[in-house]
Amino acid sequence: MPDTSPRGLTRLAFGGDYNPEQWPESVWQEDVRLMREAGVTMVSVGIFSWALLEPAPGEYDFGWLDRVIGLLHENGIRVDLGTPTVAPPAWFYRAHPEALPVTADGTRYEFGSRGAICHSNADYRAAARAVTVKLAERYGDHPALALWHVHNEYGVPVSACYCDSCAAHFRRWLARTHGTVEAVNEAWGTAFWGQRYTGFEQINPPRATPTVGNPGQALDYKRFADATIRENFTAERDILHRLSPGVPVTTNFMTALSQCDSIDYWAWGREVDLVTNDHYLITDGRRTHVNLAMAADLTRSVAGGAPWLLLEHSTSGVNWQPRNPAKAPGQMARNSLGHVARGSEGAMFFQWRQSRRGAEKFHSSMLPHGGTDTRVWREVIELGASVESLSPIRGTRTEADAAMLWDWQSWWAQNLSWRPSEDHDPRERADSFYEALYDRHLTVDFAHPEADLSAYPLVVVPALYLMTEAAGHNVREYVENGGTLVVSYFSGIVDEHDAVHEGAYPGALRDVLGLTVEEFSPLLKDERVRLTGPDGSELTGDVWTEFVVPRGAETVWTYADGLTAGRPAVTRHPLGHGTAWYVSTRLDAQGLDALIGWAADDAGLAPRADLPRDVEVVRRSGASGTYLFAINHTAGDTKVPLESPGTELLTGERAAGRLPVPAGAVRVVRLDG
Ligand code: GLA
Ligand code: ZN
Repeated sequence: MPDTSPRGLTRLAFGGDYNPEQWPESVWQEDVRLMREAGVTMVSVGIFSWALLEPAPGEYDFGWLDRVIGLLHENGIRVDLGTPTVAPPAWFYRAHPEALPVTADGTRYEFGSRGAICHSNADYRAAARAVTVKLAERYGDHPALALWHVHNEYGVPVSACYCDSCAAHFRRWLARTHGTVEAVNEAWGTAFWGQRYTGFEQINPPRATPTVGNPGQALDYKRFADATIRENFTAERDILHRLSPGVPVTTNFMTALSQCDSIDYWAWGREVDLVTNDHYLITDGRRTHVNLAMAADLTRSVAGGAPWLLLEHSTSGVNWQPRNPAKAPGQMARNSLGHVARGSEGAMFFQWRQSRRGAEKFHSSMLPHGGTDTRVWREVIELGASVESLSPIRGTRTEADAAMLWDWQSWWAQNLSWRPSEDHDPRERADSFYEALYDRHLTVDFAHPEADLSAYPLVVVPALYLMTEAAGHNVREYVENGGTLVVSYFSGIVDEHDAVHEGAYPGALRDVLGLTVEEFSPLLKDERVRLTGPDGSELTGDVWTEFVVPRGAETVWTYADGLTAGRPAVTRHPLGHGTAWYVSTRLDAQGLDALIGWAADDAGLAPRADLPRDVEVVRRSGASGTYLFAINHTAGDTKVPLESPGTELLTGERAAGRLPVPAGAVRVVRLDG
């Protein structure tokens, strides 16, 4: 069993992607000196270095990498070593042009960027394995080696290729997955529009079609593309395990849907030794720290609750969004330690030294163009010291209060074409439900719909269109045994083949919710409906309404206008020892807050009423103790109640009663006892 934490790293990870090949060797000495000054403990090296490591087919040049790794080792900096297989060299593509991926409309991409890979291509597979073997043979037992970093961000920028090799590979995958072509016809419902196949050789990837293609085919192609990419990861991983025993293997995930939506991280989480993640703030005007918390919680959940590692984030602005604001003073530390609070064993960045050339020269880094006399550098030094003082938290686990059901496959299915309303955005619902929980200071685990939910007093299901029958039974059992469930509309509608569950909607959930839905009735753009509650108060919904028929559930809120006027909008169903809530419209933030409030009451979750919503409080606990993280995202000083006295690790001061947390600051208290 390979270890799951970076070998030989005795502190939290602090550092970043280090690309010394972009600089003359004379700069390297200054790099390691400044790394030591900043408290860097680990760097990621070699991720894009294939063209340098193998300048011609089968000819390797490891001299420069030997010197880099040697220098890092002499300076006590651990190495996260990349396999460079995301960046095949120009000579490789000229010899094997078919390794370049093809889009659904038949365009073949060109060399000159990165990640242009057809993962079915046999020449790519052979070359990637060969360079991985060479690297593992050379550095597999190097004393500086802490972690293997396979490839880079599988799934982006190309999530699927539609070429002829992929077509052949898809047919093999279909035969393995479905057995017979008749089973494929059945799963995809090819009786519709005369799409029936009589042999596997007739089946192609879902390439461009005149109008909407078969949804079952499109969904299976997403599964196939994900599985195909994963085959290439596990092949490299197995080489590394064989030639470099004892060194954990990872690949950097991007769990945030806004950053990668084509990878089923539930499946990938089981394949890596250590879950690592990259996260960048999406600066679209929403509260970025909420989006960060959600991604960190999701990453921890993919790791099964175990510690994970933030392998990349940014010190300040990025360069790939329409507008790339700098981070405010203190925001970098709040971001880094926000990830740590939610289970990361450190905080790493893209990248160490800001590039002078290439596509990412305007992306912030630990060491900016302006050098050490800069705000970013001073904050990096300060953060390095903070991270160092948090060493005792290693190995502890974040405590969660509630769970949200999450499934990438459901996400893929929901986003296929021709749905009742294009205004229904499942990601928006997930984000908004998460935000409602965040605002109540509830820490959220994400759970696969078929996972054991018994540890959670509250489970929310914001938008889970695809649910298997097994998932339906799972949530029913959860409620019967005393759980509180909250389900939002258009959940539990189809099975794993995107076929509507037999009978009335929502097939997978109607028993547990105690209702059926006769018809969906999405609203027009900007149309709103009013809902009235038992005490005469009002809520507002938009985007979606439904004709709900209670069959055991009680009506709590009723539509006051629109086509569904007089019918149930929000229902509550006591079942066994638990309760299941259902909401059939898109509630705004105020409505969601009310709904989550009632459900939290049913679940016996007491609100932390005396904290402002943007003061984040999260706990990690384990063998070394219990640690309370308080992150003040507001512009005002605040005080966070402590259940027992303790020692604040960043200042070294004793803390008791109410812990002062200055505006924009982070505090971490190790509670006594
Ligand atoms: C990704 C990549 C990095 C870099 C950053 C920039 O996360 O892994 O190589 O491009 O984005 O934000
Ligand atoms: Zn291909």
